[in-house]
Amino acid sequence: MARTAIYPGSFDPLTNGHVSIIERGLRVFDRVIVAIAINIRKEPLFSIEERSEFIRREFGKERVEIDTFEGLLVDYAAERGVSVILRGLRAVSDFEYELQMANMNRKLDDTIDTVFMMTEERDFYVSSSLVKEVASFGGKVEGIVPAFVEQRLVEKFSDTNQEE
Ligand code: COA
Repeated sequence: MARTAIYPGSFDPLTNGHVSIIERGLRVFDRVIVAIAINIRKEPLFSIEERSEFIRREFGKERVEIDTFEGLLVDYAAERGVSVILRGLRAVSDFEYELQMANMNRKLDDTIDTVFMMTEERDFYVSSSLVKEVASFGGKVEGIVPAFVEQRLVEKFSDTNQEE
């Protein structure tokens, strides 16, 4: 039976840290569903279509599926018939939040488990917000995000800076 995991997140935008977790996830699972959360708490820079395109450009269709979900992650996982959630752990500061989420998710649905992978050392300090902040001030994010994401960040912020 094919082993599938759901890798959820905002991916606004995809960083090399996410890429690494997906690549390594594919060594353990046959398929990874990258599930973009339609998150009302976060005002996104990139549309769902743009965020999906970034993931699609990085990964072929064969073993990586891109999907979106709204509402509770456990409900989405049940709907998809998947019982494993894949998450990356960066610094120790992630641990408490992740423990809370994993436990809450298990309380909501005890058939679902969360599998954690340690982020590579070079990605410890990376987050999508930091990447956006650095790019918005014209800082280089080369090597932190895929090249096409870097390009889109430059375009996005030169558009907004011109509008101002
Ligand atoms: N490398 C680099 N950056 C990483 C990373 C990695 N391996 N893993 C995470 N990050 C970054 C993300 O880009 C994100 O940056 P941002 O906050 O600046 O946007 C940050 O670290 C936090 O990541 P994450 O915790 O994955 O947040 P998220 O917003 O991407 O995803 C959901 C959170 C969607 C998984 C979670 O809110 C959820 O499940 N929501 C659905 C509702 C629900 O079920 N709630 C109950 C949960 S108990």
